[in-house]
Amino acid sequence: MRILSIETSCDETALAILETSDNNHFRALANNILSQITIHRAFGGVFPALAKREHARALVPLLEETLKDAGLYRSTSRHIIEHPLRPELAEIFSREPELFTAFITRVPEIDPPAIDAIAVTEGPGLEPALWVGINFAKALGMLWKIPVIGVNHMEGHFISALLEKTDNNGRDYRLVHADTPILGLLVSGGHTELILMKQWGRYTLVGETKDDAVGEAFDKVARILGLSYPGGPEIARLARQGTPGVYTLPRPMIRSGDYNFSFSGLKTATRYLLQSLGGLATLSEKQRADIAREFEEACVEVLVDKTVRAAKEFCAQTIILGGGVSANLRLRDTLANAVFRELPGRIFAAPAPSLSTDNALMIGVAGVLKNPRNTTTPETLLARGNLRIG
Ligand code: KG4
Ligand code: ZN
Repeated sequence: MRILSIETSCDETALAILETSDNNHFRALANNILSQITIHRAFGGVFPALAKREHARALVPLLEETLKDAGLYRSTSRHIIEHPLRPELAEIFSREPELFTAFITRVPEIDPPAIDAIAVTEGPGLEPALWVGINFAKALGMLWKIPVIGVNHMEGHFISALLEKTDNNGRDYRLVHADTPILGLLVSGGHTELILMKQWGRYTLVGETKDDAVGEAFDKVARILGLSYPGGPEIARLARQGTPGVYTLPRPMIRSGDYNFSFSGLKTATRYLLQSLGGLATLSEKQRADIAREFEEACVEVLVDKTVRAAKEFCAQTIILGGGVSANLRLRDTLANAVFRELPGRIFAAPAPSLSTDNALMIGVAGVLKNPRNTTTPETLLARGNLRIG
């Protein structure tokens, strides 16, 4: 089957077309990501109304490009001024008038491509941004008469760790059916969660952050250190030049006895440390690097400690890392080493760097696993900003 997948939960507009004959091997016929990072940088974070507008602007041109990449773009239909589905499509896009105009003038001209289903992120994420993707998916589903299936963004991140590249050009992937229970540490700009998959497709939340997500803490501390958005990669770069142990920051909740996290206090402690040293303007590059190093170390230590303890308690056979912060090499290496040392015989997996941050490929694979052939577009497909996993 072929599936078109759509991801608009945050600041990347992403579309992919995947092909699979066995639900285990996936070929990405197209995989496009349009990042809004430069637009949000001026605000130091993601601004929801702006994210919505940019997704709405990007989707139609990105769809055309994606269909072309996949060799599925044909346009033999003549432009129809009064499309028979116009009222229904206008209704779907009632809150995205700009997207409606682009859609109605350009998409009906495209011949319905050989695609069996559409997968779209339904949550969690920024609701105005999610709605754009969902309404676009619904409109396409109506026009092409194919089902639309809602996918949990976090399930996408979980599954991305289990996708193994089988070629060198980023087109072919194999879904590794790793031994269960699988414990996943999912770390992104909006989430920090420990998720247990006891059986394939059945998720239980084991622990989560009580305040800021770890990616959010990286982004906020980056701002305190005068670095640009998104802060995660910037802090990682600066931390590489720092010396461990020069400064001491807390390891929040490390002895809490549960699997929850807290990163808001760590951010505040970093701000106080900076103030006690005379403020950002007086800091040397070396001091900033040492602070970044200690901040990164504090985050990694708490995340790895709790993940290893949870893996022991729940007898996890496979430990995975997913979400945007999984691009952090110190986190990856430290967790991989801890699994090797403390959980002998267990497998550790993390996504390829290109699949760490938001993408549509992971949404497509998660959609295929929901068996969209047996589905119709649910009436209840809504943006669910706080959608939970498990
Ligand atoms: O999963 P993602 O792309 O979007 C969300 O669903 O939130 O994650 C984005 C987050 C941002 O907070 C970004 O700063 C963080 O991932 N991030 C990193 C690194 N690369 C991205 N954090 C730490 N180290 C990195 N190398
Ligand atoms: Zn994400």
